[in-house]
Amino acid sequence: MCGGKSIFGAVLLLAGCGLVSDPIPEATPEMALEMGVEQAQLERGREMYLANCHHCHERVLPEAVDPEGWRSIIPHMAKNAELNESQQTDVLIYLMAAHGTVHGLNLEH
Ligand code: HEC
Repeated sequence: MCGGKSIFGAVLLLAGCGLVSDPIPEATPEMALEMGVEQAQLERGREMYLANCHHCHERVLPEAVDPEGWRSIIPHMAKNAELNESQQTDVLIYLMAAHGTVHGLNLEH
């Protein structure tokens, strides 16, 4: 199975099936809608992730950890990266959304 149902079918068609190749996908309106957050929050989370999460170890990609895993890991890693509480939330939301996007837009709620 690949793809996923979305009102943004046209976008998915263009993206193709299995061709969502960016492992650290840009924050999109679709992601924001799925997560019920502002796109700007996802963008902040992505920037935070890009800037802070590769200093002590190889970057762990969003796809590598499932949303529940991120939920339990991020508080600890945010402390490592010295993120404040709202930055921590932004990173977590982004990673969960990006995980879903990379795996075919079957985002969890
Ligand atoms: C100050 C160093 C440091 C920073 C910054 C840091 N980490 Fe880590 N990370 C570690 C260490 C050390 C471990 C190994 C064990 C532990 O402490 O849980 C780890 C483990 C992990 C793991 C578990 C890997 C596995 O295979 O079990 C993930 C996922 C992870 N980090 C993601 C992140 C993310 C995402 C960020 C950015 C918010 C981040 N880390 C920032 C030090 C850091």
